[in-house]
Amino acid sequence: MIRLDTERGEDWWEVEALYDLCFAPGREALSSYRLRDGVEPLAALCLTARDEAGILMAAIRFWPVRVGGAPALLLGPIAVHPTHQGEGVGAFLMREALERAAGLGWARVLLIGDAPYYGRFGFERLDGVEMPPPTNPERVLGLALAPGAWSGVSGPVTRAAEVRG
Ligand SMILES: CC(C)(COP(=O)(O)OP(=O)(O)OC[C@H]1O[C@@H](n2cnc3c(N)ncnc32)[C@H](O)[C@@H]1OP(=O)(O)O)[C@@H](O)C(=O)NCCC(=O)NCCS
Repeated sequence: MIRLDTERGEDWWEVEALYDLCFAPGREALSSYRLRDGVEPLAALCLTARDEAGILMAAIRFWPVRVGGAPALLLGPIAVHPTHQGEGVGAFLMREALERAAGLGWARVLLIGDAPYYGRFGFERLDGVEMPPPTNPERVLGLALAPGAWSGVSGPVTRAAEVRG
């Protein structure tokens, strides 16, 4: 049994610990993190998956960004605890989060990741969408939640909001 919840404030460090476990050290130096600096994640789309004992199995977060001025969702990080990888938890979390995003009216989703994995959810390489360097353009992937949502959308990916304070 998997219990799916929106992430609560008190989950933050537990989710961070899961990401630290699942990603290479120094993940916060990645250019995608510069798009998250000083911007709140989208609370309605940040999800945790827990087992029946309440142990965190997986988590996904989303941030708002702009692509050439158009609003888009930045998907990630997503991670599944190593003891549960390959059981379909990641796919479950992806599908649930993307359905919620569509329900909230988001039209386009962007992520930096492995096309062989994300292709199964409909993500395709985005041409002309420029992530802050250094990012391998082969890993810049997009999904249209509304038909044609990516057509004509290109340019630099920038933070959705200015850093305050
Ligand atoms: C990537 C991740 C989120 C997938 O979640 P998961 O629950 O393990 O995946 P699922 O059970 O839904 O799907 C498993 C399938 O995805 C494939 N897969 C997993 N990671 C992959 C990758 N990086 N590239 C290609 N295929 C991948 C598996 O080989 C398996 O294939 P199969 O269905 O043909 O057997 C998870 O493995 C993870 O947290 N990895 C470490 C962190 C990470 O890499 N996050 C993503 C950043 S791009």
